[in-house]
Amino acid sequence: MFTPAHKQQREQLLGQRACVIWLTGLSGAGKTTLANALGNYLHQQGKLCTVLDGDVLRDGLNKGLGFSETDRTENIRRAAETARILLHTGVITICSFISPTHEIRALAKSIIGENDFVEVYVNSSLASCEQRDVKGLYAKARRGEIPSFTGITAPFEAPERPDVEIRTDQYTVEESVAQLIQFISPRIVLND
Ligand code: ADX
Repeated sequence: MFTPAHKQQREQLLGQRACVIWLTGLSGAGKTTLANALGNYLHQQGKLCTVLDGDVLRDGLNKGLGFSETDRTENIRRAAETARILLHTGVITICSFISPTHEIRALAKSIIGENDFVEVYVNSSLASCEQRDVKGLYAKARRGEIPSFTGITAPFEAPERPDVEIRTDQYTVEESVAQLIQFISPRIVLND
């Protein structure tokens, strides 16, 4: 069993401070793009990191879970427990999940521990997400083909005090990635 004590040993081994970077926001806000870009950057910097993404986990570990409040909570609980194991192994863990409510994010934070939980609000207005509609899901949701769709027929509660907010509807992808990298970089430095 990996514990916070193991975390310190792993961090020394890897020469990095581990944390969980939790990206929350609407579908289509750019969470996955930012998560992957940050992951690639950190890898290039010689850091060991991984990405846990809602769409990907729902195809494997979380297969069979839907989008009711209960299923979303279970989705996030499993994701956060997985992130916790990785965290205690010293891995910088980037999580990309809509995680739509204060309660669900509080659950993730409590599992991971508040000192190691960095909340990133990937903020794009519903209008922008819907206009871009990269996956065509908003159109389907408007037609009533997807029940409980976040922002349309299911709630999204914007974080009140995120550690950082990235306005992906106001900046380019490159600018948004640069802002995230700038915020995260000092937080993964090992101070001994
Ligand atoms: S969460 O609410 O449980 O955190 P998660 O991030 O895992 O959601 O999955 C969101 C992804 O599932 C979206 O990007 C979208 O591709 C897909 N999806 C399918 N149905 C829904 C729905 N009803 N609401 C939101 N996203 C949905």
